[in-house]
Amino acid sequence: MSTQNVIGSETFNYKVVRQFTIATVIWGVLGMGMGVFIATQLVFPELSFNEFFGYGRLRPVHTNLVIFAFGGSALFATSYYVVQRTCHTTLFAPRLAAFTFWAWMFIWAAAAISFSMGYTSTKEYAETEWLLDILITIVWVSYAVVFFGTVAKRRTKHIYVANWFYGAYIITIAMLHIVNNLEVPWSLAKSYSYYAGVQDAMAQWWYGHNAVGFFLTTSFLGMMYYFVPKQAERPIYSYRLSIVHFWALIFTYMWAGPHHLLYTSLPDWTQSLGMLFSLILLAPSWGGMINGIMTLSGAWHKLRTDPVLKFLVVSLSFYGMSTFEGSMMAIRTVNALSHYTEWTVAHVHSGALGWVAMISFGSLYYMIPRLWGRDGMYKKSLVELHFWLATIGIVLYIASMWIAGVMEGLMWRSIEADGTLTYSFVQALASKKVLLIMRAIGGGLFLTGIVIMLFNTIATIRGRVGVNPPVPMPGYSNTASAPAAEPAKA
Ligand code: HEM
Ligand code: HEM
Repeated sequence: MSTQNVIGSETFNYKVVRQFTIATVIWGVLGMGMGVFIATQLVFPELSFNEFFGYGRLRPVHTNLVIFAFGGSALFATSYYVVQRTCHTTLFAPRLAAFTFWAWMFIWAAAAISFSMGYTSTKEYAETEWLLDILITIVWVSYAVVFFGTVAKRRTKHIYVANWFYGAYIITIAMLHIVNNLEVPWSLAKSYSYYAGVQDAMAQWWYGHNAVGFFLTTSFLGMMYYFVPKQAERPIYSYRLSIVHFWALIFTYMWAGPHHLLYTSLPDWTQSLGMLFSLILLAPSWGGMINGIMTLSGAWHKLRTDPVLKFLVVSLSFYGMSTFEGSMMAIRTVNALSHYTEWTVAHVHSGALGWVAMISFGSLYYMIPRLWGRDGMYKKSLVELHFWLATIGIVLYIASMWIAGVMEGLMWRSIEADGTLTYSFVQALASKKVLLIMRAIGGGLFLTGIVIMLFNTIATIRGRVGVNPPVPMPGYSNTASAPAAEPAKA
C-alpha cells in the first residue's frame, strides 16, 4: 500500500500509522505474555529455568515491553493519526516518521534481549544501557520534529486540545529521559549514573513518577480527547475544562515524585512537598476523567450496543479510580502500610490495565477499520468478548493484589506484647499463594483478550467478512469509491 491515503479531498500518511497499530497489538501479546509468565513464576519459582529466564531479568522485559513497546507504539500510532486528522494535513517529514517506526521496533527488541542477558543500567523503567539511551533520544527528537512539524503546517487556525496533550508528553519525555540517563560509559555495555546517593534516588523518581504522569497519563489523555468524542459522536463536555485541567495537570505532576521515596533519607520537607502535590493532583486528574465521562451525556444508550465505547468508558473509570488511590497512597501513614506490598502492584495495574491498555484497545478498534478502509472490525462479537475477558481479568488481578497487599502489610507490622513479630516473612508469603494464583489467572484472561484482538485485526486487514454485523460507524465509509464522511472538525 502507498504511504499516502486520499480521504475525501484530503491526503494523509496512513502507512506509518498502520505499522504502529499492528506493532501495538503484537507487542501487547508479547509484553503481556511475559507478564503472565512472571506472574506464574511467582507461584512456581521452578519456572526460572536458568539465568536468562530468571525473574529478576524478565521483570524489566515485561515492564519495558508493555510500557514502551506496547504503550509507546499505541501512542505513536494514535498521535500520528490524530495530528493529521485534526490539522487537516499529511505528516511532516514522512521519511523521518518511517525511521521512528523501524528504530522504535529495533530498540525494544534489543532491550528485551539485553535485559535477559543481564545488561541493565538498574534504574527502573530506564534500564536500557547508554547506547540504546542515545538511540532513544535520536528517535524521540525525530518524533518531535514530525509531530510539531505537522502541527506547524496545519490547515486549521486552532490547535485541537488532543495535540496539546500529545505535545506536552513528547517534550517532557525528552527532558526526563535525558536528565535521568546522564551516565558515564564504562564499556560498550555498561555505564554508571552521573548521580550518587539520595540525588540519584531523587532524579530516578522525578523521572519515574513523571514517566507515569506523561508517558502513561498525559499522552493517553490526548487519546481520550480525540477518540471518546469521535466514538460517542458528541462534542467534548467542556472545552474550557480541558484547557484548565491540561495546565493544572502538567504543572502539578512535576512535583509529586518524592511520594515514591517516603520514609527514606530524602529530606523531610521534600517528602512532605511530594505528598502535598500528590493530593492536589487529584483535582486535575478527576477534571480530565469527568470531562471524558460527561462527553457521553446524551449518548449513554450507545453503551448497550457499542463495545468500543465500553472500552473507552471503562478506561476512564479506572483512570479515576487509580488516581484517587494514588493520591491516598501518597499520604505518609497510608504509604507506611502499602509500600513494598502487592497493594502497589494492584495500583500500578489498575492504571496500566484499566486505563492505559483499555483506552488503547478502544482507540485501536476505532482506527483499524478506518485505516484499512473496512466498514467495521471483522467480528463485533469478538470485540465484545475481548471487552469482557479484559474487564474480568482486571478485576481478578487487582482485587487479589489488594487483598494480598493489605494482608501482608498488616502481617508485617503485627507485633506481640513483648515486641517480637507475630508472623515471619515466610508466613506472610505463604498466606498469599492462592491470591498470586488468582492474579495469574486474571492476567491469563487479559492476555486471551488481546490474542483475540490480534486475530480480529488480522481478519479485518485481510478483508474477511464477519458473520456479525460490523461495529456501527454511522456517517463513515472509507472506500475508494465513497470517500470518508468523517466530520471535518474534531
Ligand atoms: C496480562 C497482563 C499483565 C500481567 C499478568 C502482569 C503481571 C505483572 C507482574 C507479575 C509484575 C511483577 C510484580 C511484582 O514484582 O511483584 C508486573 C509488574 C509491572 N507491570 Fe505488569 N502485567 C500485565 C500487564 C501490564 C501492562 C499492560 C502494563 C503497562 C501498560 C504493566 C506495567 C507493569 C509495571 C509498571 C510493573 C512494575 C510495578 C512496580 O514496580 O510496582 N503490566 N506485572
Ligand atoms: C493522581 C495520580 C496518581 C498518584 C498521586 C499516584 C501515586 C502513587 C504512589 C503514592 C505510589 C506508591 C509509591 C511507593 O509506595 O513506592 C505509586 C506507585 C505507582 N504508580 Fe501511581 N499514582 C497516580 C496515578 C497513577 C497512574 C494513572 C498510573 C498508571 C497508569 C500509575 C502508575 C504507578 C506505578 C507504575 C507505580 C509503581 C512505581 C514503582 O515503585 O515501581 N499511577 N503511585
